[in-house]
Order: sequence, then C-alpha cells, then structure tokens
Amino acid sequence: MASIAIDGPAGAGKSTIAKQVAKKLGFIYVDTGAMYRAIAHYLVQNNINIENNDELKAACESINIAIKYENDAQQVYLNGENVTPFLRTEETGNMASKSSAKAPVREALLGLQRDMAKEYNVVMDGRDIGTNVLPDAEVKIYLTASSKERANRRYKELIEKGEVADLDKIEADIIERDERDMNRDIAPLKQADDAVLVDSSFMTIDEVVNAIMSEAEKIA
Ligand code: DC
Repeated sequence: MASIAIDGPAGAGKSTIAKQVAKKLGFIYVDTGAMYRAIAHYLVQNNINIENNDELKAACESINIAIKYENDAQQVYLNGENVTPFLRTEETGNMASKSSAKAPVREALLGLQRDMAKEYNVVMDGRDIGTNVLPDAEVKIYLTASSKERANRRYKELIEKGEVADLDKIEADIIERDERDMNRDIAPLKQADDAVLVDSSFMTIDEVVNAIMSEAEKIA
C-alpha cells in the first residue's frame, strides 16, 4: 500500500487539495482532523473536563470512532452515530485543537489511522502524519500559507455562506491555533525532515494539486 502524508496548519487548504489528489490517484482520502473533531464533539456534549486526566481517559475509552465512505465522502461515526455534520464548527475546531494535545485522545486515534494506511492506498492529512503516524509514507508534503492568507480564505468562505465574519479575529484565532498545534508536547505540528514544503500563499488550488501530483508520480 502507498501513502501520501499532507501536514500543515489550520486553513492551509489541506482537505481541498488532499481530496483532489486522492481522486486523481484513486486513493482514499483520510481526514484525521475530522477524527479529532469527533472526539472534541463528544467531549463538549458530555461536559468532560479535559484537564482531568482520569476523566479524559475514561471518556476516551468509552469512545468508538469508525470511518466509512458514502458517495466518496468520509463519514465519521462516533459510537455508531454519524457526527460528520457537527464537526466543522469553530467551537468544535477550537476544542479539537485543545483536546488533541492530550495523550489519551491521541492514543485513541493512532491505531485507527495506521490501520487505514495498512488496508488502503491513502492520502492522509493532519498535523503529525509524516512525522508520527506514517513515518514511512512514500510522499510527505508540508502544506502551509501565511496566516494573513489563511485568514482571508476563511473570511471569504464565511461571507459567501452569508455569515458575519471579522477578519482580524479570524487571523488571531488562526495564530492561536498554530501556537497550540506547534508547541504541544506530543506529536506537535512540524515539517518532517523528508517532507516537501509547499507554500500555497500565492498558488492556485490547481497549482498546488499539480505540485503534489508531480511528487506522487515519482513513486508510481
Ligand atoms: O485539520 P482540522 O482543523 O480539522 O484539525 C482540528 C484539530 O485537530 C487541529 O487544531 C489539531 C488537531 N489535529 C491533530 O492534532 N492531529 C492531526 N493529525 C489532525 C488534527
């Protein structure tokens, strides 16, 4: 089985790009952020104090996450319920950034992620795929963009959906999330030594997809 690992900070466009690359290659797209978001959703719903390790550990032991594909789209099941529609909110994203720093949460997902890469050819995106989850991935990409550009993209997305958005607040949240993801003790976000750096600040989606495809073609 072949694996392509795409890591990078929030809002760099990983999922849009990874989906397109997976489609072109006929690989499965695995969105690991959605798995962390599913656990975060459970923790919020059940009022779990993530600073209490025993409480968090017990909660994680009672969580079963399963991934299914429906019409080519990844669906995340939490204890048998499809929670995919609840995962993309800011609240869940912020909680995921905090709870994913905790050992019981990471331990709950590592095996599932590795098993998927054993069973299928995957394009897997996240924060620690190239460094920790799949250190032997055939292709590793570190996809980033300036915080200003990532905030601009998120702002446009919200405005297009008709939502109220504050550009400065969005950028401040992005910077705070980067800080947390890059500075945690366990599996922090960083570029793997053997990853190819792609800065998408001034690139179109097609340009980024093509850059990754040319790396993928080297292994074909
Ligand atoms: O990619 P995302 O925004 O859906 O991820 C949500 C949070 O989950 C992110 O702030 C950090 C965490 N995460 C992680 O720690 N490791 C991963 N492989 C993927 C996501």
